[in-house]
Amino acid sequence: MLFANFLKTHQQQLQNDKQLLLLPRRQLVTYALYALIAVALLYLFVDPAAPASSSAKPSPPVAAPWVQEEDELLPPSPLNLSSPRPYNYQGDERSLTTTAPPPPPCDYSDGEWVPDPRPPPYDGAACEAIKDDGRSCAANGRADTGYLHWRWQPRRCDLPDFSPAAFLRWLGDRHMAFVGDSLARNQAESLVCLLSAWSPPELVHRDPDGRFRRWVFREHNATVSIFWSPFLVRGVEKSERAGVRYNELFLDAFDERWMSQLGAIDAAVLSAGQWFRIPSVYHDGGAVVGCYGCAAELNHTETSFFAVFRDVVGRTLAEITRRRHEKGGGGGDKTPQLVALATFSPSHFEGEWNKGAPCTKKRPYRKGEKELGYTETEMRKIVVEAAAAANAAAAASSTSTALRFAALDVTALADMRPDGHPGPYMRKNPFAAGEGRPVQNDCLHWCMPGPVDTFNQILQQTILR
Ligand SMILES: *[C@@H]1O[C@H](CO)[C@@H](O)[C@H](O)[C@H]1NC(C)=O
Ligand SMILES: *[C@@H]1O[C@H](CO)[C@@H](O)[C@H](O)[C@H]1NC(C)=O
Ligand SMILES: *[C@@H]1O[C@H](CO)[C@@H](O)[C@H](O)[C@H]1NC(C)=O
Repeated sequence: MLFANFLKTHQQQLQNDKQLLLLPRRQLVTYALYALIAVALLYLFVDPAAPASSSAKPSPPVAAPWVQEEDELLPPSPLNLSSPRPYNYQGDERSLTTTAPPPPPCDYSDGEWVPDPRPPPYDGAACEAIKDDGRSCAANGRADTGYLHWRWQPRRCDLPDFSPAAFLRWLGDRHMAFVGDSLARNQAESLVCLLSAWSPPELVHRDPDGRFRRWVFREHNATVSIFWSPFLVRGVEKSERAGVRYNELFLDAFDERWMSQLGAIDAAVLSAGQWFRIPSVYHDGGAVVGCYGCAAELNHTETSFFAVFRDVVGRTLAEITRRRHEKGGGGGDKTPQLVALATFSPSHFEGEWNKGAPCTKKRPYRKGEKELGYTETEMRKIVVEAAAAANAAAAASSTSTALRFAALDVTALADMRPDGHPGPYMRKNPFAAGEGRPVQNDCLHWCMPGPVDTFNQILQQTILR
């Protein structure tokens, strides 16, 4: 099994890393990216996987004080609130099935993080969905709590708080799937934790690696699932060629592990991008058409991963639209009504990913304090443009008017949260071995609760719009 090989050779990869100092800088960077993701994945995959049976029992609803009170607009708070901003549940009053006017369009991507003394929307330690996960930061020993007390304030409008009640009302008899890499997983888990504050989820499916999971909120017949598909199209992770490991991407082959399920999915959130930055060989039409980060070793044409990412996202969205026309072709008689595409989520390693580089900042960047990097800017733009193009194409087609594509534009707000990553708290009690011992840092994924909850706040408004 490929993945088993990957695990076996992981140690060797770490040894190889020692020789990286001899490599030219550019190569060093690509290898560093590669190794980091390898390490991150290792942690994902070797989770002490809870057998599905032990998780089949629904957890009791997580007690978030304000969602269970009659006067839920005035949450009790453990902090001293001189002027508490009440939770804004305007979303509760609307439902997709009513004819209430949609909220005015608002650019949620432009704004700033402002202090918010309210308690976070759920208790990560009590959220069953992430109990074996590296992102329940407080449960893993992260003691500082400042990162929990910020809310995103768009420049020209307010972003309503996430309303689990309204979300579940919408999700009733529906299935929302998160498709992509570990950031898709991160966002899906955040959503399940947010909804758990209102209604208990039941884990009804989990593969041994936790890469494919499905929860049902029985009270609402609402389903949330995760599909692992880091390239969106068919790919082989860490295939070995000429003694070096590369991803293999088949640009003209769709990943049927999720594509074949489209008929049973009402809304999808696609979230991918990070894996495109590691060395990869690209196949199209049965031939190798290029390669990123491996031209020298494999004698292939060096290709821009931006171009490949653009191609992959475009083809994937076009295929979703095509299968909507083709009744039954997607494995059912319907395909998603909404496809939201999360834009690139930046990391904040202060140094080399695989050399234990930490993320030490303890507060968000202020507006204008940090410029978005080139890669983040390009990767974001590709998704925003692809979503707009696919939406226009779907709207122009008479038979698929119910299909909508939307960008979930989180790049800027995520880039401003260097304080929101697990850092060393990707593992329980990382300093138990003694201060000063080297630890691995996760400055890529997001603590839960944390900034990723805001992704779902915007997702909720995207659904309502
Ligand atoms: C809360 O804050 C107010 C004003 O900032 C202050 O006067 C008051 O003493 C504080 N209360 C507590 C319990 O700390
Ligand atoms: C429950 O939801 C699924 C969609 O996730 C739907 O296909 C099914 O018909 C629903 N069941 C009932 C009893 O409404
Ligand atoms: C790389 O390509 C060149 C030109 O096509 C060829 O001469 C050379 O043998 C190739 N090297 C390898 C390792 O395949």
